[in-house]
Amino acid sequence: MFFEGSFPKKRMRRLRTDDYMRRLVQETSLKACDLIYPVFVVDKDESYEDIVGMPGVFRLGRQELCKVASLCLERKIPAIALFPCVDGSLKTPGAEEAYNVDGFLPKTIKLLKEHTPSLGVIADVALDPYTSHGQDGLLDPEKNTILNDETVQVLVKQALCYAESGVDIIAPSDMMDGRVGAIRSALDEANFSQVKILSYAAKYASSFYGPFRHAVGSAPNLQGQDKKTYQMDPANSNEALHEVYQDIKEGADMVMVKPASFYSDIIWQVKNKFAVPTFAYQVSGEYAMLKAASEKGLIDEKSSVLESLLSLKRSGCDAILTYYALQAAEWIL
Ligand code: PBG
Repeated sequence: MFFEGSFPKKRMRRLRTDDYMRRLVQETSLKACDLIYPVFVVDKDESYEDIVGMPGVFRLGRQELCKVASLCLERKIPAIALFPCVDGSLKTPGAEEAYNVDGFLPKTIKLLKEHTPSLGVIADVALDPYTSHGQDGLLDPEKNTILNDETVQVLVKQALCYAESGVDIIAPSDMMDGRVGAIRSALDEANFSQVKILSYAAKYASSFYGPFRHAVGSAPNLQGQDKKTYQMDPANSNEALHEVYQDIKEGADMVMVKPASFYSDIIWQVKNKFAVPTFAYQVSGEYAMLKAASEKGLIDEKSSVLESLLSLKRSGCDAILTYYALQAAEWIL
């Protein structure tokens, strides 16, 4: 980059004098179409349950979900991401409920596609909502280790089950090796070549998923166990590029970095190296922090949230999953 001129001829503040001027030279912007709304869903007709640590976010029953879906369309949010809160009695070591075609998530996907067909529906593929031990993969009962290849087979069944229900985008969030390739092949063979894959490619073993794990009820089942044998070490960035490279090669249409704000260097590198659609997930802990500080009057909620999202756009991501999506879209309409 060539930098010309110096003070007093060059005055950087000249272009900051007025709102019209600042808007003209603004380099990035945040639009409603950059946002994806993650929602927690329960197998009930009517429900609006609070979630600890996430004021303003609820576990939604079917009626409330439909209302929220209509609101997303109204506010120009392109897609919604579904997270099922599965009844404890349906959780098993083998996560069989994950690919039950008559299960609650497949039915929810169908309902949404009938109710608001033009709203994109994203479903996570990972076993943690369905395992009795709360891990994203199957466990070797003797060694207590995650069985990668056996898990991939179940993830494929789960992805096919969601595809049959009409899901638009499959989002593998499990971090098993080889799952994107296996899911892509299975989808293509079953004539689902238009179903897209948004891979959680660089997903870190982060401390910021706490409120989410409580919301979906996997926290108590995990019994203090972590996910460090499959999610990435927050210290690493080269590894993120390898993960992204693998997933693109295996057929991911879009890749995701998660969490978002503390990982904007990763977003920047991924976007610049691979130039593919790159998404970021502002996770439950990030939401909880912004919310808690706002509620205490320590920061102004609207401007802080919009700044956090704009900063992610500046880091290079194309879209952001955020629990603030509905609210932010209203603010920027
Ligand atoms: C499950 C999954 C998690 C999140 C999204 N999908 C939790 C985890 O990996 O333990 C976290 C999202 C959030 O914290 O908002 N595979």
